Amino acid sequence: MKPIDCEDLYSDGRHYDCQTKYLVEDIPFHLRQIKKYGGPVLELACGTGRITIPMAEKGIEITGLDVSETMLSHARKKAAKKGVNVEWIKADCRNFKLNKKFNLIFFPFNSITHLHDLKSLEACFSCVKEHLTHKGRFVIDVFNPHLDILMRDPSRRYQISQYSDPDGKGTVIITENNIYDTATQINRIKWYYSIGKEKDKFVVENNMRILFPQELDALLLYNGFTIETKFGNYDETPFDSASPKQLVVCYPK
Ligand SMILES: C[S@@+](CC[C@H](N)C(=O)[O-])C[C@H]1O[C@@H](n2cnc3c(N)ncnc32)[C@H](O)[C@@H]1O
Repeated sequence: MKPIDCEDLYSDGRHYDCQTKYLVEDIPFHLRQIKKYGGPVLELACGTGRITIPMAEKGIEITGLDVSETMLSHARKKAAKKGVNVEWIKADCRNFKLNKKFNLIFFPFNSITHLHDLKSLEACFSCVKEHLTHKGRFVIDVFNPHLDILMRDPSRRYQISQYSDPDGKGTVIITENNIYDTATQINRIKWYYSIGKEKDKFVVENNMRILFPQELDALLLYNGFTIETKFGNYDETPFDSASPKQLVVCYPK
């Protein structure tokens, strides 16, 4: 299995929360799946609890699992401040054993793209199967790849985020460029952080394993899952060629 290579990207949960503060539309989608299939719930790659904590606030029995201690410690602080109960687990989603089974396991917000090789994906799917109840469901949320983004000119930069630095050092502006490797299907993205007057103060890599729609379906099928539904967006429209998202609801055969 390839090693995890996103530690720098997730080195400060406060920055992650600033970068994702606009993102809320996935929460009602995941809530609807939980209402449909029930708890207890396990979120893989829960990060700072952006989704986990609002679920716990609704009284859902939820476990958040992530490999990053920095992200989890920020999540713990936020949950404590809100007085909500979440079980936080520091573990690799490719190798975990919890003494519990779940009616719903979800893998939100493109986190699956951090699994860069087949062995990693297979190991994760195998752990998921071991932790689902007999009626349990597995929900994956990953974008539907856009060829024009993958094939962008690597010498060009695109602004992707702007927010106030949590340490009060001014405005943070993140620009990115990327180069897509067609053999490994890894999009090698670089994020350049400018903080206040300091341009490109630091650069972090965000390497994403691109999962094409037919490939994702086939991967799930040969790993022993049956696909129940595939939505194309959080409003639950069916998946088609114009869909921005791949939202797969599946269960072990
Ligand atoms: C895009 S963030 C998603 C966080 C959160 N689920 C959300 O929606 O805001 C991706 C998360 O995946 C975690 N991660 C990456 N590789 C992982 C692995 N092998 N096992 C567990 N977590 C992993 C990172 O630490 C990071 O917190």
